[in-house]
Amino acid sequence: MSVFYLSKTDLKKMRGKTALVRVDLNIEPGAEKNSFRLEAILPTIRFLLARGAKVVILSHRGRPRGRDKNLSLRPFAPILQKELKQRVEFMTVLPRMIAPQRGKVFLLGNLRFWKGEEKNDVGFARRLAALGDFYVNDAFAVSHRKNASVVAITRFLPSYAGLLLEKEIKNLGGILKYTTHPFTIILGGGKTSDKLGVMNYFWNKADNLLLGGAPANTVFVAQKLPVGNSLIDRGSTSQILKLIRKEVEPRKIVLPLDVKIADKKILDIGPQTVEKYSKIISKSRTVIWNGPPGLFEKKGFEKGTIGIWRAILRNRKAKIIVGGGETTASFSLIHNSKFMIPKNIFLSTGGGAMLKFLSGRKLPGIEALK
Ligand code: 3PG
Repeated sequence: MSVFYLSKTDLKKMRGKTALVRVDLNIEPGAEKNSFRLEAILPTIRFLLARGAKVVILSHRGRPRGRDKNLSLRPFAPILQKELKQRVEFMTVLPRMIAPQRGKVFLLGNLRFWKGEEKNDVGFARRLAALGDFYVNDAFAVSHRKNASVVAITRFLPSYAGLLLEKEIKNLGGILKYTTHPFTIILGGGKTSDKLGVMNYFWNKADNLLLGGAPANTVFVAQKLPVGNSLIDRGSTSQILKLIRKEVEPRKIVLPLDVKIADKKILDIGPQTVEKYSKIISKSRTVIWNGPPGLFEKKGFEKGTIGIWRAILRNRKAKIIVGGGETTASFSLIHNSKFMIPKNIFLSTGGGAMLKFLSGRKLPGIEALK
């Protein structure tokens, strides 16, 4: 069974109807403006508005425990309003229905402020569904989560994949079919367990696994090397050891040669590592990158991430996929006009979702659209 794509659907009959559009506005507080993730959701909303539909935008933000002002979606309302040239009404309370005279674009508060969202609660999904006539999933980055606004909601409304979700499925699906070698995977950032699935899946396919951030620290711990207070994932060390035992020459796992430290924490890769990783990237013909190698948001610890970006952008011969909220946000370190990306590079809005998808696993949010 295939996914129902919004782009292929006759929406003529939907004029005057209300679309519930699930997007991913999981963007760090303070980084709302010029965000790649925000920019990426606009085509679907514009597409629907141009066809006469009203749009209710649904998203989560962060991992709140109850209501948390810092994780409100309110700051996005004026930004969306400017981009869409439409009044955007922000709603903190889940209404019973959308009153027809109230406008064309609505943004509901952070879905994770409601308990039912992460439990994939059918009752909560039904309440959300009551707000619209049809549902559009344009949140690839959350499609690996069995959440009410991603999965359960599709039981109540005609459901489609939005333009962004379609683009992600097609581009990421393509790389699985045609990988040319050398094939390099770069893994950094915070969540190690997400990345282990990729290391396992691609073990026989990839030539190099370049590590930074928490994944590299966790390997150091598995090798009984001191890492001070660095970010690690203790739960992953035994699985990492299994991978290390599989190593034969030439080794696949490539670890930092030098690191930058502050407050007893490894916060970036050093210059020798940047040089080594850049050489490997320049020879590669397929590259997947998820997770920055350092804490680039902190001044003095951005050079590793900048170095990787430069190497990535210099390589015009490889098919390259870069994904994850932080990784795509880090592009602003080297470029002002974010979206001038060379054609051989595909920027994915997905982090964990991209890794799962590339690991050949089914994403519940996509399955629910079939
Ligand atoms: C992401 O940033 O990868 C998505 O928004 C999913 O967020 P989560 O890992 O908190 O579910």
